[in-house]
Amino acid sequence: MSFVNTKLVHSVVAVSCVVGSLALLSISPVTYANEMNADMVKRSISSLKSPSDYAIVSIGNDALLSMKKSDASRLAIEPLSNLSKNKDDVALIKLPNANVDALSRYMHENHRRCGGYVWHQSLEKAQTYIRQLNSNTHRLLVEYTIDNDDTVNEMLMQVVSSNLSSTVGSMGSYNNRYYTASSGVEASQWLKSHWENITFTRDDIMVELFEHAGWDQPSVIVTIVGETIPEEVVVIGGHLDSINGSSSNRETARAPGHDDNASGIAVVTETLRAMVTGGYKPARTVKIMGYAAEEVGLRGSGEIAEMFADDNIDVVGVAQFDMTGFKGTADKDIVFMTDYTNADQNQFMMDLLDHYFPQVQYGTGLCGYGCSDHASWYANGFAASMPFESNFNDYNSDIHTSNDNHFDANHATNFVNLSIAFVGELAKGNADSDNYQSQSTVEFESGNVEVIEQQTLSISIQRTGLFDREASVNYRTISGTAVAGEDFVAVEGTLNWTVNDAASKVIEVEALAVTEDKEFTIELTDASGNAVLGEVVTVNVSLLNNSTSAVSFKQSTIQVPESTASNIVIQRVGEIDMPATVRYVSVNGTAIAGINYEATSGVIEWAAGDDSDKTISIGTYKVDESETFTLELRSASGNAVIDGNDKITITIQNTPVDDTNGSSGGVFGILLTLPLLLLGWRRKRSH
Ligand code: BES
Ligand code: ZN
Repeated sequence: MSFVNTKLVHSVVAVSCVVGSLALLSISPVTYANEMNADMVKRSISSLKSPSDYAIVSIGNDALLSMKKSDASRLAIEPLSNLSKNKDDVALIKLPNANVDALSRYMHENHRRCGGYVWHQSLEKAQTYIRQLNSNTHRLLVEYTIDNDDTVNEMLMQVVSSNLSSTVGSMGSYNNRYYTASSGVEASQWLKSHWENITFTRDDIMVELFEHAGWDQPSVIVTIVGETIPEEVVVIGGHLDSINGSSSNRETARAPGHDDNASGIAVVTETLRAMVTGGYKPARTVKIMGYAAEEVGLRGSGEIAEMFADDNIDVVGVAQFDMTGFKGTADKDIVFMTDYTNADQNQFMMDLLDHYFPQVQYGTGLCGYGCSDHASWYANGFAASMPFESNFNDYNSDIHTSNDNHFDANHATNFVNLSIAFVGELAKGNADSDNYQSQSTVEFESGNVEVIEQQTLSISIQRTGLFDREASVNYRTISGTAVAGEDFVAVEGTLNWTVNDAASKVIEVEALAVTEDKEFTIELTDASGNAVLGEVVTVNVSLLNNSTSAVSFKQSTIQVPESTASNIVIQRVGEIDMPATVRYVSVNGTAIAGINYEATSGVIEWAAGDDSDKTISIGTYKVDESETFTLELRSASGNAVIDGNDKITITIQNTPVDDTNGSSGGVFGILLTLPLLLLGWRRKRSH
């Protein structure tokens, strides 16, 4: 094992775009690059202003060599390195930040790549990056052998193509998975829980979020700890984010990203599932990665690969799955990108296809730029490969649009198979599906429920655990003090869950009329499929008698002339089949008990069948001006509840006497009393 201790930051920023079938502009072969001499290069380096004004990027030399002088000056591009005449080299340039978008468009229109350049934090880091690219030295040299057929075949037997479509559907159901959108964060969290659901029975497997400092969307990483060489790591991954490249509001624009790149996530997810159900215990540690923020410059994988390099992690090999669900080239199932990848490992993958899947048609091709996360690993010195869905020129033109909503699961299954063979032969170890236990637990969500007579009880039975098998359980009602047929309608039956069905099931029980509260139970028995009974297999149902009557004051306010008795009416409505009582008590307001009215309290009783109004009479005394107090209902019993007016405000009216010599009487007094009298008159008429 040999290590190159180069540390470099690989921060890539490229403006993504939709690559359609744009006609290539004819470019006269210009000599812009050749006109630069060493002096000019030095000058431009020294003229570097604040890094916030200028972007330092590396770019394919072919693009620079063929660039018209007018384009170069329009973009204010200045070379930062001695320019080579080899079009396969990478050139270092600087340009104003404001022109980065225009460069992106130029690259798109003239070189059929989106962005296609790598953004660097500093000149020094950029130069290290170029050195690393040219050195082609990779961290860990391994011997590639193909001799673990039993283990690989055991895992291959577990592959179910429809699972790929299911994962793609779930990922695509987020409006978009853009790295700064809330739906992008939720998609990461969903992926974490999806991977947890697949792996929770294994304590040698963990699932973690990898949080990034600069944006909200986390990457997701599964680690299957190697049994014998845990310090050496095999990585398979794909980016989990998506983008609508044409929209000005990328946080809200629809970007289902089925092919780019739910398809790659589906491939590594099904690889993971096959490893678990195949009972695979790798010798080396296997890591499965869903990278955040690929579409905005390989940022998630850039941070992860840099961290692995900084920590001197022995990464044996990396496979990147980005776009696997569209068969764009008739005679190709898989195309291996040969740029930004490791030639030996690419050959190993082709050998794997020859060995395990001789019918799969493969070829090689070029992205022409660091088109996906493999470039982050490559730039950090690790051996990476990028098996792709078609020749570069034939790729799915719907990517980065709201129409990226198609997925060919059969095509993508080739990549699952390759991924399984890659892991099985590079991480070695053994698979034994007898080790695998698929289990789900079924139980009631709650052990105690209430239902009111003559209503229907809905009760949920939940399934937790693994959903990769069918499951079923029987249920039935059992009489208690509530008797089937008399007090409720008996039910029994079987609940069935299909494969991947995680939903709770609901059963309904009809409660009949009861004269008092009663109880019965519902029981779960005979779990089958991959289901076992959980803890809550019996639910106690309280069947509640609903006979209540409501007692209340008939009115909420009443006015009585001073020195007369007020008659206050309390009514009872509803079910009157039981006796009922309610207490009442007077409460001071401005009117004071003993001075303005007679303090009053007591209990009113109704016999069974009695719904007559009850009247309370309260005497009042003379008042100087209108005063108020209240009468209030307290503690109902029997089948009564206080419902309606629970208090009544009584206004004792000062009856005006002859006030011709009163200083404050006169017209004012009449004006005040007249409306009150009218009110009293109208009240009378309306009764
Ligand atoms: N899946 C694409 C890369 C791709 C597109 C590969 C077409 C082969 C054919 C990836 O998600 C992507 O869009 N990459 C960016 C570049 C990156 C550095 C931002 C791109 O191609 O614009
Ligand atoms: Zn993309």
